[in-house]
Amino acid sequence: MTKKISLTGIKPTGIPHFGNYIGAIRPALKMLENSSTEGIYFIADYHSLTTMHDGKTLRENSYEVAASWLACGLDPEKTTIYLQSQVPEVMEFNWIMACFTSKGLMNRAHAYKALVQRNEEAGRDQDQGINMGIYTYPILMACDILIHKSDYVPVGEDQLQHIEMARDMANVFNHTYKKEAFKLPEGIAQKGVLLPGLDGRKMSKSYNNHIPLFLPEKKLRKMVMKIQTDSQPPETPKNPDDSLIFDLYKYFTTEQQQQELADWYRRGIGWGEAKQQLFEAMNAEIAPARERYNELMADKAQIDKALQMGAEKVRPQIQEYLREIKELIGVG
Ligand code: ADP
Ligand code: TRP
Repeated sequence: MTKKISLTGIKPTGIPHFGNYIGAIRPALKMLENSSTEGIYFIADYHSLTTMHDGKTLRENSYEVAASWLACGLDPEKTTIYLQSQVPEVMEFNWIMACFTSKGLMNRAHAYKALVQRNEEAGRDQDQGINMGIYTYPILMACDILIHKSDYVPVGEDQLQHIEMARDMANVFNHTYKKEAFKLPEGIAQKGVLLPGLDGRKMSKSYNNHIPLFLPEKKLRKMVMKIQTDSQPPETPKNPDDSLIFDLYKYFTTEQQQQELADWYRRGIGWGEAKQQLFEAMNAEIAPARERYNELMADKAQIDKALQMGAEKVRPQIQEYLREIKELIGVG
């Protein structure tokens, strides 16, 4: 039986936070426990280049993100992990797909439209600060997906439009050459999985309410203790369904643990005690990965090796596919 391919790209924006872990890393790795699915999870450094123009930071971020996935359990022998820029064939594909993508489609991309709107609202030229990489971002993303004949693309909901666009481009191409040259991918977004941050809003770097995934234990505890609470005394019975601490706790514990803490809430719990329970649950979940993460970051050659192995694995397949596509379009 041929395996289904689950592919996703991760933008190297620095050490992930617990929201990224719960919403992206943990489910994407869980998906691979199903032996009929093969994973290809790559670091989209060229996508980051659209906004990050500091070479040292971009490279360091790529290491941090690769180390995070490896530390959280991605086994490079079984699951392919590579650095986008180490597979240059994608760029050749990128040009080909650009010639099958209407400008109008790019004009409709939410991310691009939001930037234009922000410029307009500020009374600036509508194109200010928008480079062509940002504008054509969905084309490169479509290539990332289509070159692997991906079946599933696990992403955050904000990325679903890009996957629809990849399907559009694939359809235009297939229709033009009357051939199923590209497989249509299916976007898979986690519904209802939204880890709150320290202030109760969605945990996000842009709100600066996030808890970095690999904080040293003491710092993690300190951050959890910072969660804002009211001034109810410990003996007052409390409602677990109306508690940010409890909301967070649910993502790291079994139903039985949740039941026990809920009972404690109803009997009366001190907020310090509740936070201690949360800290222990988060720490238990991440402690083994943290150790591995620190090891990897102290010996980046291990990360290089995993990424190189991934690139070496995918490049021959992509080259073969590229040859077929070039034959079809009459170039090369
Ligand atoms: P940020 O909002 O911090 O910039 P990103 O947009 O880079 O995070 O998110 C990368 C991935 O992590 C996406 O798949 C997104 O769905 C997931 N993610 C981010 N924040 C959360 C959250 N608070 N809860 C669940 N998933 C999240
Ligand atoms: N655009 C995605 C993001 O911002 C990252 C990405 C690049 C991606 N190429 C991809 C995701 C291909 C899935 C498939 O998160």
